Amino acid sequence: MKPTSLHRQLMLWLLIPIVCLWIAGGVVAYFIAVRFADLAHDRSLFDSTLTLSEQVRIDHGRVRLDLPDYALRMLQIDPYDKVYYKVSTHLHGLISGFGSISPPPGDRVYYNRPYYHNDRIEGNHVRISSLYLHVPGNSRDWILVQVAETLVKRKVLAKEILAGVILPQMLLTGIAVAIIWIGITKGLSSLRRLESEVQSRSFRDLSPLSEDDVPKEVGSLIHAINDLLSRLENAISAQNRFVADAAHQLRTPLAGLKTQTEYALRQNDPGEIRHSLNQLRTSSERSIHLVNQLLSLARAEPGWNRSMEFRRIDLNTLASELAGRWVPAALRKHIDFGFEPSSSNPSIEGSDFLLQEMLNNLVDNALRYTQEGGKVTVRVFVLNGISGISVEDNGPPIPESEKEHIFERFHRILGSQEEGCGLGLSIVRELAHLHGGEVYLSELAEGKSFEVRFFGHPA
Ligand SMILES: Nc1ncnc2c1ncn2[C@@H]1O[C@H](COP(=O)(O)OP(=O)(O)OP(=O)(O)O)[C@@H](O)[C@H]1O
Ligand SMILES: [Mg+2]
Repeated sequence: MKPTSLHRQLMLWLLIPIVCLWIAGGVVAYFIAVRFADLAHDRSLFDSTLTLSEQVRIDHGRVRLDLPDYALRMLQIDPYDKVYYKVSTHLHGLISGFGSISPPPGDRVYYNRPYYHNDRIEGNHVRISSLYLHVPGNSRDWILVQVAETLVKRKVLAKEILAGVILPQMLLTGIAVAIIWIGITKGLSSLRRLESEVQSRSFRDLSPLSEDDVPKEVGSLIHAINDLLSRLENAISAQNRFVADAAHQLRTPLAGLKTQTEYALRQNDPGEIRHSLNQLRTSSERSIHLVNQLLSLARAEPGWNRSMEFRRIDLNTLASELAGRWVPAALRKHIDFGFEPSSSNPSIEGSDFLLQEMLNNLVDNALRYTQEGGKVTVRVFVLNGISGISVEDNGPPIPESEKEHIFERFHRILGSQEEGCGLGLSIVRELAHLHGGEVYLSELAEGKSFEVRFFGHPA
């Protein structure tokens, strides 16, 4: 999906309601103003009607309009509109004026009260004001005085009102838009600062971004980024430490290989040469073991996509096949090596290869560090619904102070006569994590047990 600008979104969300309100406000203001203007014009139209009614005379029962010329001209002087008048009676019809002015709608006649209605005269729309008067001494008759005018003045006024209302509103809306634009730009400036700070950074610089002078929302974003940066820094320094440690560990056996080779080359006696070559073989085996352990550890690192390798693994089958392969090594040390499957036949989602690697390290340790004639048992178990594999031995106990450290990389317990590079248990721990499990060391009545429990959330 195309990314939309936050600035634009905010502007749209604010502008659409503002423009709608502006239009609605304009329409309402226009109708109110036109209504009041109509009222004012109606009143002045009725004034003319009243003035005209004052000129109505009744002589011996006959109604006539006594309208001097100047008064007639006054009535009809209007720069915009055409004005018509009419005086009529109920019984005698038109007395004076323009005959086609229609009477007010409705049948009832109220005296001395203004009537207004709209009609057309000579094709023009007009507003008509009417007034009924009594005919003294004749209750069956009445006089109707009417003045009509075209609507030009009213339309002009409506246009003026429209301009007077809409233009200032347009100006105000323009100012509001400008203020909103500036506000949003200022509000988003901290995001822009953040963007330029991140852009101008070197990829090596993982120091936290400044959280000063930023709004709360941006602050929490920066906080989250800083959190990520710090985890990234920890991960990178752990990687760097590991590479440095690995290089250091590899240097010693490789230097040994070189010295032994040079020594062998200086020998003439075939017996001595053979002896040196045997030593060379041992050293290169040690180097190969170290490289293999390093590779295992790298493979166990989280971040590799192993979903393809994962499948359902039957723990009894896995452990029994693996234990079988270790029997010769156990026999060489006269170790009582046993395997106990679980009657529940547990299985987990995992990688066959990586689980074997994990178990190999535990069995290798147990056989290597247990004295001749000792006892080692590989056991598959299900406890409280949690399945796992344990490797028990009755070899020397791990000192309390070492229990925490033996799972660290390159950590070995001082004084051990056995060869090793101190990576086995860290590989075990990483691989256990990868399969949603954890490794535990527990004391037994006789010996100890390394136990991997799978909680069912493989990585
Ligand atoms: N079953 C055990 N019995 C006694 N000590 C053990 C046992 N397992 C591990 N240890 C001690 O813990 C240390 C760390 O073991 P770990 O497997 O990590 O390394 P390592 O065996 O020395 O080398 P690697 O396994 O990489 O060849 C060992 O050096 C050993 O002293
Ligand atoms: Mg080991």
